[in-house]
Amino acid sequence: MKYKSIRGTRDILPEEASKWQYVEKVAREIFQKYGYEEVRTPIFEVTELFQRSIGEDTDIVTKEMYTFLDKKGRSLTLRPEGTAGIIRAVIENNLYRQRRTARLYYLGPMYRYERPQKGRQREFYQIGAELIGPDSPASDVEIITMVRDLFDVLGLKNLILYLNSVGCSRCRAKYRESLKDFFKNKIKTMCTDCQRRYPLNPMRILDCKEKEDRAYIEKSPKISDYLCPDCREQFEKVKEYLNFLKIDYSLDPYMVRGLDYYTKAAFEVKYEGLGAQDTLAAGGRYDRLVRDLGGPDLPAVGFALGVERVLEAVDREKILLPSSGQTDVYVATLGEEALKESIRLIRELRQENLKVLNDFNPTSLKAQLRQADKWKAKFALIIGQEELSGKKAIVRNMNTGGQEIVPFSELKKYLVRNCS
Ligand code: HAM
Repeated sequence: MKYKSIRGTRDILPEEASKWQYVEKVAREIFQKYGYEEVRTPIFEVTELFQRSIGEDTDIVTKEMYTFLDKKGRSLTLRPEGTAGIIRAVIENNLYRQRRTARLYYLGPMYRYERPQKGRQREFYQIGAELIGPDSPASDVEIITMVRDLFDVLGLKNLILYLNSVGCSRCRAKYRESLKDFFKNKIKTMCTDCQRRYPLNPMRILDCKEKEDRAYIEKSPKISDYLCPDCREQFEKVKEYLNFLKIDYSLDPYMVRGLDYYTKAAFEVKYEGLGAQDTLAAGGRYDRLVRDLGGPDLPAVGFALGVERVLEAVDREKILLPSSGQTDVYVATLGEEALKESIRLIRELRQENLKVLNDFNPTSLKAQLRQADKWKAKFALIIGQEELSGKKAIVRNMNTGGQEIVPFSELKKYLVRNCS
């Protein structure tokens, strides 16, 4: 074959697309209930936006961005995530002036040049939300409950919510020193990524996936011992509220997340048994980002889920999502005259909101009825020369096989009544 989709990207074909539509519908309904409004931002932005928000020495920025120069020589990047673009849009459009609390959501493709594997693509879809304005731990919990509600509606069960606090710049300064001390004698034996991260941003070492390095990491100092009173209190409150709502969680003291903008509480929702890429959704608080990107001093918290991974988990749990469903009427015709008449009939029926299919190059009646079966039609209309001259159609009930003759003038009423 001449052309193929690019490695790390894939087509979402009709059977699958209906599952995607369902997940998107569920998400939109939940966002609606929580009062979140949709924002659509461009797929590419200036590169600096992502460098400044995600962090210069994160994997995303150093290795994974699709960056290119446009015809005027400006450096642009396909968005690797949604938060940076949303915050840019909030600042640019003064959204925070019109709303004391901005509750925003988005869905769409993101791009990261990662090594493709199960659950990890170069083009993948996220559904996410950002809550900008409040710093109350109750707002962290709103984001977490929204994620939980979404997974509950989809019927996912084997989920674990992992929680940590990544502190603020004050607690992190002390924590970084303690990490540097701890890794001082080990860093030469660790992977090249860790060695690069050590002098610049030793907390990123905690994100390393190398087995040998993990053995050290799991003995390293924990940020929980370095939190300032403010961050400690915020984290205690988030946990208290989650307990109050009876939402289970596990603490993961080494969770740092792959993006630098986080402050205070951060979380990941993992699905047990999905393999290496088992994080379905993740997020947390980021109180500095709006200001760092030139906006006012507004705290914020948010999350994003990966649609491919969520659907993988749905498949694993053998959950049947509603598909695009049945066809109401399949119109089978015999001869050119009947085909012409069917164009008018089909249009009228579709105007009545019925789902109607037909064959543009009809062959035998048998072949057309097979198609009616394939598309799960409730009724087949059969129009041949005889029916045409009598201005009537044979209506075949595809479930029972029973047939009736209905005049054209009554078809609409008959089918609307029987298809509803
Ligand atoms: P993230 O953890 O980088 O966070 O991505 C969120 C989710 O996107 C992941 O948990 C995963 O399900 C999915 N995902 C990420 N990379 C890939 C990939 N290569 N292939 C398939 N799925 C992937 C963020 O992006 C933050 N913006 C979340 C956030 C919003 N934090 C605050 N607000």
